[in-house]
Amino acid sequence: MKNFDFHNPTHIVFGQDRLGELDNLIPKEAKVLILYGGGSIKKFGTLEKVKQNLKNRKTIEFGGIEPNPKYETLIKAVEIAKKENIDFLLAVGGGSVMDGTKFINLAINYNGNSTDLFKPGYSQTKVSKSLPIGTVVTLPATGSEMNSGGVITYNHGKHVVSNKLLYPKFSILDPKLTYTLPAIQVANGIVDTFIHVVEQYVTYPVDARFQDRTAEGILQTLIEIGRQTIDNPEDYDARANLVWCATMALNGLIGAGVPQDWTTHMIGHELTALFGIDHGKTLAILQPAIWQVRKEQKREKLLQYAKRVWNITEGDDDSKIDLAINKTRDFFEDLGIKTHLSDYNIKTNEIDNIVNALKKHGLTAMSETRDLTLEISRKILQKAF
Ligand code: NZQ
Ligand code: ZN
Repeated sequence: MKNFDFHNPTHIVFGQDRLGELDNLIPKEAKVLILYGGGSIKKFGTLEKVKQNLKNRKTIEFGGIEPNPKYETLIKAVEIAKKENIDFLLAVGGGSVMDGTKFINLAINYNGNSTDLFKPGYSQTKVSKSLPIGTVVTLPATGSEMNSGGVITYNHGKHVVSNKLLYPKFSILDPKLTYTLPAIQVANGIVDTFIHVVEQYVTYPVDARFQDRTAEGILQTLIEIGRQTIDNPEDYDARANLVWCATMALNGLIGAGVPQDWTTHMIGHELTALFGIDHGKTLAILQPAIWQVRKEQKREKLLQYAKRVWNITEGDDDSKIDLAINKTRDFFEDLGIKTHLSDYNIKTNEIDNIVNALKKHGLTAMSETRDLTLEISRKILQKAF
């Protein structure tokens, strides 16, 4: 196992009907900016409940944070927060709202031009104070509710920002708030969670048994409850398991002391930026292709994945790995997510544009071993059709 630091300060408030806790979690005298997306929380009554539980606090609302949140939208909230002397940020929504709120927090507290924050390393090093953030999660997927990162769309690219000050102070996870999600968003969230786990698990072995077995536990839980929670959105226990898996997949626990890949996410972000494909879908398209191309580098962990996650014990090693990749693809397809670029009307002549975008963003040496070049990315994209 590698050396690591693990410090996750987010207070999780999990379970049914927990919004009343807002009154205990946010200081009584705080002036709160409530941030949300395109309106689902208004339509389904969550905003009203949140406001009731904030009691007599002064609140201001900022809505309209879109999926894959855009810098141009977020910067408007920065102006409001500064003008109104806001002292608490409350994100109510999915990953886009939580990530957008994190960026807003950075920009409020950065003295230069806030587009600087997209330069590598800037968000971590150039911001040293922040406002407290709370979240009310309405979509289980990204893990943003218990991590310190966010992904922001700017200048035709998706940029990762992170800073240890961005861990939410608390996150309320009430599975019932997710019942109103369209099936496809639930499926996206299952795939996103699954890929967060495998990006930290299907690398090379370092004898990190707790991390491996926890990763395998999350994957098996997703396989067990995935279709079930799509078909029966109000089955509380199935949904509660998804919500907790999504949080635990990307809060640092399973990634501590192990190599991490993130190639699937990095190429996936380019597919979202160029073609507007949902984040989860980009991952489902790329993961089988990446494993086919990287079979040798990942051989030992792919065999472990085949055996322990899919119970594949028959056949030679190559056929075990191939079967595990096929089963993974079938799992995504069974959730209703198409796994080929051609399913999204992308043509092979777009490969050059995708590779150029990777080059522009400096993604020329990816993977757990930093040897995944643009030429290998090209091969992966060819396989993804
Ligand atoms: O905007 P509203 O009207 O609220 O509708 C949203 C949105 O259209 C809807 N929705 C959310 N909760 C709902 C609901 N509809 C009905 N009922 C509810 N309870 O769902 C749509 C998608 O929301 P979004 O927040 O965009 O989805 P998700 O949570 O999948 O977030 C995706 C974003 O997170 C980033 C992605 O890149 C993408 O920008 N990621 C963030 C990460 C992180 N911070 O650690 C890691 C991830 O890998 C990912 O990159
Ligand atoms: Zn993701």
